[in-house]
Order: sequence, then structure tokens, then C-alpha cells
Amino acid sequence: MGLLPLFFLFLLLTISSGESSNSVGVNYGQLGNNLPSPKQSVKLVQSLGATRIKIYDANPDILDAFKDTNVEVTMMVPNELIINISNSQKLADSWVQSNVVPFYSKTKIRYLLVGNEVISSSPKEIWPRIVPAMRKIQNSLKAHRLNRIKVSTSMAIDVLEPLSRPSNGSFRSDIADPIVKPLLQFLSRTKSFYFFDVYPYFAWVADPKNINLDYALFESRNIKYTDPVTKLNYTNLFDQMVDSVVFAMKRLGYPDIGIFIAETGWPNGGDIDQIGANIYNAATYNRNVVKKLTAKPTIGTPARPGSGN
Ligand SMILES: *[C@@H]1O[C@H](CO)[C@@H](O)[C@H](O)[C@H]1NC(C)=O
Ligand SMILES: *[C@@H]1O[C@H](CO)[C@@H](O)[C@H](O)[C@H]1NC(C)=O
Ligand SMILES: *[C@@H]1O[C@H](CO)[C@@H](O)[C@H](O)[C@H]1NC(C)=O
Repeated sequence: MGLLPLFFLFLLLTISSGESSNSVGVNYGQLGNNLPSPKQSVKLVQSLGATRIKIYDANPDILDAFKDTNVEVTMMVPNELIINISNSQKLADSWVQSNVVPFYSKTKIRYLLVGNEVISSSPKEIWPRIVPAMRKIQNSLKAHRLNRIKVSTSMAIDVLEPLSRPSNGSFRSDIADPIVKPLLQFLSRTKSFYFFDVYPYFAWVADPKNINLDYALFESRNIKYTDPVTKLNYTNLFDQMVDSVVFAMKRLGYPDIGIFIAETGWPNGGDIDQIGANIYNAATYNRNVVKKLTAKPTIGTPARPGSGN
């Protein structure tokens, strides 16, 4: 049972205007001991009622194990390949040929992320290569008529200026014009999504004096934050963080791109020896975020309420 918390920590959710499919998914990290085999994982994912998984690579055993299931798969081009793929259509073609084509369409591959939190985790020289690599991968998918697969990349919260009020959300000035603008243009043109990893835990733990724990755990009954500019009322930190991205995209001229919550969750302890990181808070957070994001009709966030917004 030791593997469950790790396997289960993250959720995959969408908040978007277009496809409003708020199904919950599972991030299938492969770091850790005693992970279930791909076949066992399929059973586990299905027993959790999840209809999506995200993997952090293109592991052929996992892609194969999910053949003929109804589970939608998000897979990844690893960060290390971005520079070479950005320089070579031929390499992009052969990557798609050997990692995607053999599994599609029996495996319901729906999203292909070019890199994982590249701006937060990889050297600067890779950053401007993300979008060119995405374009080349998109070209390859198109050439193979794999039209149902959307291309994106995942971002963490640190691509934004430090959080203040949601309506002041803006991308960091060093990346806004050179990197984020072309990214948003690509996502808009291809009707793809902005993939965002959102961890209220880290925002809370950086400032626990000013942020109430209940507000971060979706447990606040009467704590409310009103954005002084938009007058939108917030009842949890998650919404504030998501709306900061909404306003940041709007500021760059792209108000309508759907947001895909690629990861969320709350650390349940493990290696993180910090206040607030425990099984009880993790269970509370996960229960509440799932409840919010699977509610029908869709709740959305204050800046994007409901499904049709
Ligand atoms: C990228 O291409 C260079 C030059 O062809 C090669 O030496 C290097 O190993 C490649 N990197 C990866 C990660 O494949
Ligand atoms: C709004 O964001 C900018 C940076 O994008 C920052 O300089 C400014 O202080 C922020 N204003 C408020 C009121 O938070
Ligand atoms: C936020 O709450 C205040 C007071 O409860 C209310 O007057 C205001 O209309 C709300 N704002 C929005 C945008 O609903």
C-alpha cells in the first residue's frame, strides 16, 4: 500500500471554455519503488474511476497497457530532446513515428506535452526552443493525420510574477514577450490548452502568516478575498492562482485559451518535512479539489464561472 499515496497524489483536470470535460485523471510518475506494473496500473486507474492519465515520457509498456481502454493519455517529449527536435523536422518526425504512431489510436493519446516545467527546471537556452519544437511536433502529427492529439507544454506557477491579486497576474517580464507570447499564439491557433501545475501548498507555506490554511484547503467558510479591481470574490487559494493565469494570458492578448490543470495535489509528508504537509491535509485538499472540479454543473473560477464562459 505504500505506493498509493505517490501514485495518487496528483490529479489531472481541465478548466476551459471549449471542451468542458472536468474528468479527473491520475499522474503516473515512475519515480519511486514498488510501482505497480503497467498492467496493474491500468486496473488501478480504472478502479479509481479516472478517465485520464499523464505520463512523463513515452514509455512504450505503459502506452501499450492502456490500449483498448477508455483512458485518455497525455504523454511527453522529454526536456532533453527539445533543442534537437527544435532544430530538425526529421527528428520530430522520427520521434512521432516511433513513440506515437505505434500506439495511436488504440491508445487514446490526446495530449502531447513538449517538455515538463521547462522554464522552472531546465537551463535558459532551452526556453526559446520550446515553441519551435512544438511546431515541429505539430507538423509531424499533421503529416500522420493524428489530428486528435493536441500539443502543449506544462508550466509551473513561477512563470508568473510573484502572486498578488489575481487581476494583476502577469507573466515574468524576462519570458513574457520572447517565450510566452509565441506559446499562447500557438495554443490559440491550434485550439490547444495551457497546461498548468498548481500547488496552493507552496504558496501557502511561503506565507502561512497571511494565508489561512483553511483557505488553501478549500475549507474556508467565511474567509473571502475580494479582488480590488475586478471585485471578484475568492473563497480559496486555488481559484486565485488559476485566475492569475487567466489574467496574465489576457494581458498578453489571449483571453480565451483553455486551462488544463496538469497537476495539483498536496504533499502528504514523505520527504517534505514542512508544516502542513501531512496525510490529513492532503486528503482534505484532494477530496475538496476533486469535488469542486467534478461538480455538475461546472463551477469554474470567479473569472471563468460555469462551463460556457
Ligand atoms: C542532440 O544532437 C547532438 C548533435 O547531433 C547530439 O550530439 C546529442 O547527443 C543530441 N542530444 C540528445 C539528447 O539526443
Ligand atoms: C502588479 O504587477 C506588477 C508587475 O507585473 C507589479 O510591479 C505591481 O507592483 C503589481 N501591483 C500590485 C498592486 O500588486
Ligand atoms: C462580492 O461580494 C460582495 C459582498 O458580499 C458583493 O457585494 C459583490 O457583488 C460580490 N462581487 C461579485 C463580482 O459578485
